[in-house]
This record gives sequence, C-alpha cells and structure tokens, in this order.
Amino acid sequence: DENVTVAELSQAMGIPVNELIKKLMHLGVMATINQEIDADTAMVLAAEWDISVDVTKSFTAEELLAEDAEDIEEDMIIRPPVVTVMGHVDHGKTSLLDSIRHTDVIASEAGGITQHIGAYQVEVQGKKITFLDTPGHEAFTAMRARGAKVTDIAILVVAADDGVMPQTIEAINHAKAAEVPIIVAINKIDKPDATPDRVKQELTEHGLVVEEWGGETIAVPVSAKTGQNLDQLLEMVLLVAEVQDLKANPNRTAHGTVIEAKLDKGRGPVATVLVARGTLNVGDAITAGTSSGKVRAMIDDRGRRVKKAGPSMPVEVLGLSDVPHAGDTFAVVDDEKLFKQVIAERMAKRREEDHRRTSKVSLDDLFKQI
Ligand code: GTP
Ligand code: MG
Repeated sequence: DENVTVAELSQAMGIPVNELIKKLMHLGVMATINQEIDADTAMVLAAEWDISVDVTKSFTAEELLAEDAEDIEEDMIIRPPVVTVMGHVDHGKTSLLDSIRHTDVIASEAGGITQHIGAYQVEVQGKKITFLDTPGHEAFTAMRARGAKVTDIAILVVAADDGVMPQTIEAINHAKAAEVPIIVAINKIDKPDATPDRVKQELTEHGLVVEEWGGETIAVPVSAKTGQNLDQLLEMVLLVAEVQDLKANPNRTAHGTVIEAKLDKGRGPVATVLVARGTLNVGDAITAGTSSGKVRAMIDDRGRRVKKAGPSMPVEVLGLSDVPHAGDTFAVVDDEKLFKQVIAERMAKRREEDHRRTSKVSLDDLFKQI
C-alpha cells in the first residue's frame, strides 16, 4: 500500500489541508480530507512547496549511507586529495591557484583556458590533486552546513605583507571544525615589505605553531607571482594526502557533492560536481538537491567533454532539470521505480509514526529519522 491520505500528508508537510485540496484541484484531482492519494501525486504536491528537496536528499543520504557500509577494502583504491584554498580577501588565493595551474604541464599545453569551473585537477609527480576554488568561505560553509565533507586538506593563504586577518581566522576555525589538516601558504614573499616571521607569530596566537618553532603546522613561504616554492607547497599536499590514505571505490554508482551551479543561457542548468565515490557516466540518471535528470554531457576543468568521472574528479554536469545549490549531494539513481518505491515506503512508515505522534512534524524531520 503506497498511498497516503490528504490529512496525513498535510500533517507531514505542515501545510493546511484546504491548501493541499486546492492544489490538488489545480492538478485536476478532486480530493477530500480522508482521500488517499498515491506517492507520485504526493511527490508532485511536495514539490509545489519545495519540499521535494528533502525527499530527494534523504533518499540520497539514506541509500548511500546504507550502501557505504558495503565497500570492502579490496575495492578501495587511492584517490586524489581534495584541497580547498582559503584565506583573507586579496591574500592571493586565486593567484596561487592560477600559478599552480600553470605548473601543470597538461594545463599549459591545452592553452587558452577560458573555462573556469571553480574546481580542477593538477598532476604533480604523476599524482593528481583536486583543488577547489572557493571565493570567500560561502561555498565551504554551505557544504559544511549540509554535512558534506568534501575537503581533505585546507591550504590557508596568508599574505606576508598583511598578516593574519579576520577571514584568515574564520578560515582556521572552519578547517578546525571540519577536522581538516591545514597547510599554510605564506604568500607574497616577493614583496619588499613581506614579514613571514610576523605571520608565523600571529598564527601561533590561533593555535597554529609552525614546525620550525616546534609545532606541527606545515608552513611554506611562497610567491604566487614568481612561482617561488610552489613545488614545495604541492609536495607538502601530497605528503599530507599520503598520510591520510584517501581511498574510494570507483566501481559503483556515483555520489558526491555539488560544488557550484548556475543557469547557463545556452546550456540550461549547469552543476559542477565533485565525485566522492563511484564513477559518474554520461547517461546516468541523477538527483541533486531539488533537481534531477539524466547526465547529458560532462565537461572537465579544461573544457573537454568526458564520458566518465571517477572519485575526486570535478566535472560540469549538463542535463539537470533545475539549478541545485552548492553543498547539495548528488547521487545516481539507478532505477526510477526504485526511487519512487523508497518514497512510498517512507510515506507508509511515516503514517505509522504519525499515529504515535502528537506534535506536528515536518516532512524533513520524518525523513531524517527513517
Ligand atoms: P579574493 O578572491 O578577492 O578574496 O582575493 P584573492 O585571495 O583571490 O587574491 P588575488 O589572487 O586576487 O590577489 C590579490 C592581489 O594580490 C592581486 O593584485 C595579485 O596580483 C596580488 N598578488 C597575489 N599573489 C601575489 C604574490 O605572490 N606577490 C605579489 N607581489 N602580489 C601578489
Ligand atoms: Mg580570488
């Protein structure tokens, strides 16, 4: 039995019955308060109030959490670290990323890169590193707020001529809260008024004691402008990543996180996603936040069309129905029927719970508990 009554749905959604009935009439369904409606109709209704977000998300989380346990050690292979570059305004995050990108032979060979997808991969000593370009901390915050842990390592950029500033401290706190190791890049050391030692001193006040002073914080003095010590910085990233022993199973349906998304005039909704595990393929049916669809095309960080994206690989995905939010999880839905069944199952389960419940609960609350 996959049906739910209008009254039950009203309670779960926190939307008055008469409003639901009105909306149903609009959809051509004449319903009364005790009328049973099917799961599909319930989903359409939920979507009208934007509640489908939670439906989709909980499905994703639930299914994937359950699936996650199934990964056995033999299936796990090394994946590239995902590195987020953070720091105060104008301290050189973008410059650093640009510079690092130029050290990547493949990138410079491709030439004339116009595409900027906010996430890209470079290859250092035959090993890939994924970088996330997060202007401000909004994306990072959004992702953390949604419980997505995408970052393995944070590079904290501090300008040597400016020192630790409010957003530097914010970044430190974000990284600490997320339990992400921090590598400090003391930038702009080419400047005559650069005082790297002052930066180190200020960092100490925020719990980051550099190695040379007996602490554990790796700090590399660099210049995004001249490229000085960038190789050393990248080496440190690889070193930290090695210790973390980052692995994922590429041989399963993909799931991951939306890094950013936009509505493109010509191409429709475009989402930059980062695959956490599994492999995303063109043609896969996916859900991402409020939207769903079939992957029509995928484009890598160099503007090339790709057919597959494995763990830690960022790609632009075309083919979604709507623009998802940064931090939304995406997941491949193998089977649309199954997807609907899960929703229906939950409706049934929720109904049971409703009987035991007196206070009003949101659809979101209910789905979270299941
Ligand atoms: P927001 O995105 O606004 O937060 O800034 P950002 O951290 O990305 O800084 P951005 O890379 O835009 O650099 C800010 C300014 O610092 C630019 O004028 C850069 O040219 C300059 N800059 C960045 N790195 C260096 C460096 O290593 N040396 C010198 N001399 N200037 C640098
Ligand atoms: Mg920038």
